[in-house]
Amino acid sequence: MTKIDVLLGLQWGDEGKGKIVDVLTPGYDVVARFQGGPNAGHTLEFNGMKHVLHIIPSGIFHKEKVNLIGNGVLIEPCIFRQEIRDLEAKGVDATQNLYVSKKAHLILPTHRMMDAANEQAKGNMKIGSTLKGIGPAYTDKIARNGLRVGDTLSTDFRERYLLLKEMHVRQAQTLGFDLAAFRIDGMSLDEYERQWMESLETLKRFRFVNSEYFINQCLRDDKKVLAEGAQAMMLDIDFGTYPFVTSSNTITAGVCTGLGVAPSAIGKVMGITKAYCTRVGAGPFPTELFDETGRQLCELGHEYGATTGRPRRCGWIDLPALRYACMINGVTELYVTKPDVMNDFEKVCMCISYEIEGQQTDEIPFEYNTVEVKPCLTAYEGWQQSLAGIDAYEALPAKLKSYLDAIEQQTGVRIAAVSISPDRKDVLFK
Ligand code: GDP
Ligand code: IMO
Ligand code: MG
Repeated sequence: MTKIDVLLGLQWGDEGKGKIVDVLTPGYDVVARFQGGPNAGHTLEFNGMKHVLHIIPSGIFHKEKVNLIGNGVLIEPCIFRQEIRDLEAKGVDATQNLYVSKKAHLILPTHRMMDAANEQAKGNMKIGSTLKGIGPAYTDKIARNGLRVGDTLSTDFRERYLLLKEMHVRQAQTLGFDLAAFRIDGMSLDEYERQWMESLETLKRFRFVNSEYFINQCLRDDKKVLAEGAQAMMLDIDFGTYPFVTSSNTITAGVCTGLGVAPSAIGKVMGITKAYCTRVGAGPFPTELFDETGRQLCELGHEYGATTGRPRRCGWIDLPALRYACMINGVTELYVTKPDVMNDFEKVCMCISYEIEGQQTDEIPFEYNTVEVKPCLTAYEGWQQSLAGIDAYEALPAKLKSYLDAIEQQTGVRIAAVSISPDRKDVLFK
């Protein structure tokens, strides 16, 4: 019996999870998503090609590996169909190696409408949602109203769909939302609904499975399974910067509920962090930089959302948040991405602790959103050289290695590898 390894983000998302999963996939038999949905944007680059995945696991370019969309994931059929089409255009036929849990919930067009209606109603408390319908679809799951992938095969599916849609329409009207003016990807709700219904046929071309049995059988057969996280620790519904979070458990515990594996079946937990920090959407971000350095991180790091195109907020790496992430997730090894973005920096800073109301602390306070959290920074000399062409961890500049050593010391977790470009080939294992 093998254990399931986990790979997840330790910051506010976009740490480079997709890239690292793609790099690690040759060592696994199955890659499984366990939570989130099309709010995710996971970028892969190889052979001069760039590809962004939203719902489909990042092992999909390895055609001999099974990719599973677990029960904890949300599927939006139109976005799913578009992803399949994009893969087909690149010569990837996913029908043989992509399995879908019958228990995964569906995002309806009106979930997307409710996402927009809720955000509008929040005024200046907007989350900055990706507007893919995540919050409303998970709300219906928890409220026991949701529709699941397996339901698409039942004869009363349409009836149940219409009931749920009606409920959403009433909710939107209560919020004073202008339904007639609402557009999804430029389409009216009716038009989008037609596309959505058609897209179900694409979804039905894939193998629907009782994924909890499938995964546990894989583990019993000594197959190697990798669970791919979406979003990240600090966006977790319970432990993130609530209410500025997503609506799922993005943490290791989410693997158990999102795939149906026991806690004792969890193996390695690989945590991904950028060498700096970014966040898209609203919410606290103590190390955020509003100066030229922040702009440089954004421009040099191409920090624009893979799903929404929004510029990402940028700042220094935040060790209190990282230590918190290592604690909650039981991280056994770190992957550090994007130090190359800071190649030209004279100095690189690290937030070691916080100062809150005159007190120094290492903890993420309950009042994170409401009090002023000042980062206590330590500066490191920049390495000021290109990392291009470096093909071994040992060959990294000494100043960069000191910076990485400090991350290890501060978190107490060893670094397994460093990524130094968007390309698949540039991951240096230690
Ligand atoms: P994910 O959501 O965690 O999979 O990350 P995203 O794909 O949203 O964002 C990460 C971005 O950084 C993508 O554009 C990647 O191509 C890019 N990237 C990943 N690793 C590196 C790296 O080591 N260096 C640089 N410069 N870019 C990287
Ligand atoms: P990946 O997997 C970065 C953010 C949104 C918003 C909040 C809630 O690519 O790292 P939601 O649409 O879930 O209701 O949005 O969470 N968010 C992400 N930020 N990367 C992501 O995914 C994200 N998914 C959601 O910007 O602030
Ligand atoms: Mg992303």
